[in-house]
Amino acid sequence: MVAKKRKIVIAIDGFSSCGKSTFAKAIAARLGYIFIDTGAMYRAVTLYALENGAIRSGIVDEDAVEALLPQIEITFRFNPQRGASDIYVNGDLAEGRIRSIEVSNCVSGVSSIRAVREKLVAMQQRMGRDRGVVMDGRDIGTVVFPDAELKIFMTADAEVRARRRYAELTAKGDNVTLEEIVENVISRDKADMSRAISPLRQADDAIVLDNSYMTVEEQMEWFMERYNAAVEE
Ligand code: DC
Repeated sequence: MVAKKRKIVIAIDGFSSCGKSTFAKAIAARLGYIFIDTGAMYRAVTLYALENGAIRSGIVDEDAVEALLPQIEITFRFNPQRGASDIYVNGDLAEGRIRSIEVSNCVSGVSSIRAVREKLVAMQQRMGRDRGVVMDGRDIGTVVFPDAELKIFMTADAEVRARRRYAELTAKGDNVTLEEIVENVISRDKADMSRAISPLRQADDAIVLDNSYMTVEEQMEWFMERYNAAVEE
């Protein structure tokens, strides 16, 4: 009989628009693991803050967001059609609404609030307690699961990432220029890396995956070699 492989925590951190979620979702499906998109959790808090007056005209009132925290309950429910879990805020489906431009524009301000990070990090640690999870974010390998058995730090050339995002947005009919997307990608990288609390940083024991010129299949092949080595240890 083939021994059952032990379940581990797989931490995927890295820059925005690197394809982290797509990669993490594919890995989870392949391994039968739970995929947790931690960016969705920061987006959910931002959505609730917007809907409850703690963000006005794009200005985040940090004290007001903190005061709302005890009344925010975030849950996930698996959606077989998407092959991933949908996020709910106080029982209401929030999956579509958390991806709006309004939320995207305010989420950096909300994710830099200490109380927000403390609440969400504690939740993420509970979700991964029994291992068998692929978690994607910015601080998973450094703060949430410093003991993760496999840590991947994803990166890709800023211009390549901007081109991918530009193709996505123009396919949706958004009227944007490649130049403004390049600027936005670079400024978000800076904001993520220079945040005072839990900045985006490569963990010392993370393996770098630069997927600028890799197909999804090549990335999966790359991953499976590292995964097999990690579970064999
Ligand atoms: O991955 P994303 O773009 O959906 O993340 C949304 C925002 O949340 C992004 O501005 C970075 C922040 N974030 C974070 O601070 N820590 C995480 N673990 C995940 C996301």
